[in-house]
Amino acid sequence: MAARTVIAPSILAADFARLGEEARAVEAAGADWLHVDVMDGHFVPNITIGPDVVKALRPHVKIPFDVHLMIAPADPYLEAFRNAGADILSVHPEAGPHLSRTLQRIRELGAKAGVVFNPATPPELIAHLMDQIDLVLVMSVNPGFGGQSFLTSQLKKIERLRAMIEATGRDITLEVDGGVTAETAPRCIAAGATALVAGTAVFRGGPERYAANIAALRADLIDLKEHRA
Ligand code: DX5
Ligand code: ZN
Repeated sequence: MAARTVIAPSILAADFARLGEEARAVEAAGADWLHVDVMDGHFVPNITIGPDVVKALRPHVKIPFDVHLMIAPADPYLEAFRNAGADILSVHPEAGPHLSRTLQRIRELGAKAGVVFNPATPPELIAHLMDQIDLVLVMSVNPGFGGQSFLTSQLKKIERLRAMIEATGRDITLEVDGGVTAETAPRCIAAGATALVAGTAVFRGGPERYAANIAALRADLIDLKEHRA
């Protein structure tokens, strides 16, 4: 049986006036990672948070921080986010001219290195870089906002990236981000995903719902795995 799927709630959907409490609540509710969406109003049309907020959040929970950088350039800020407590740093190839150098820098800083695919970005872009990558993140919405609908067009890309990962023989995480719900999660897993980001689907209904919301995602995944076993 496959390893347990990683569930990474996106704090973009949390109450920003109570971020520490929200992080603790999703950790207690069974989250594996905390997904942190960093947006600059330039690479994407929205502005969220910077390293100081990540640093302030870090003491509140023990789970890894999965930091998704939607900023350009990203290189000047890698160290600040790592020092703030990022365990995984993921960058979009379009954010800078030298993806390989950026990935090398992330690992030098002691973090895991991730590459994020916009809906239009082709999987082959990383074919020559697989040994520099710890995580691949497939966007199943156009980045910039939570609460958008899942783009089924991205399922083929997840399948393709799964095949590319298998060919390496390495344990590279394949994560999906955007519009993940109890309905779309099983399709992502069937296509080969091993980690799921969920904002709206986890935070809807307030803290008393978080455990049930996460369990609902997991319940469908367990059903699917039983079907496939
Ligand atoms: C979008 C972000 C996502 C988003 C997911 O740019 O990268 O992480 O917050 O939110 P939902 O799950 O609501 O689509
Ligand atoms: Zn994200």
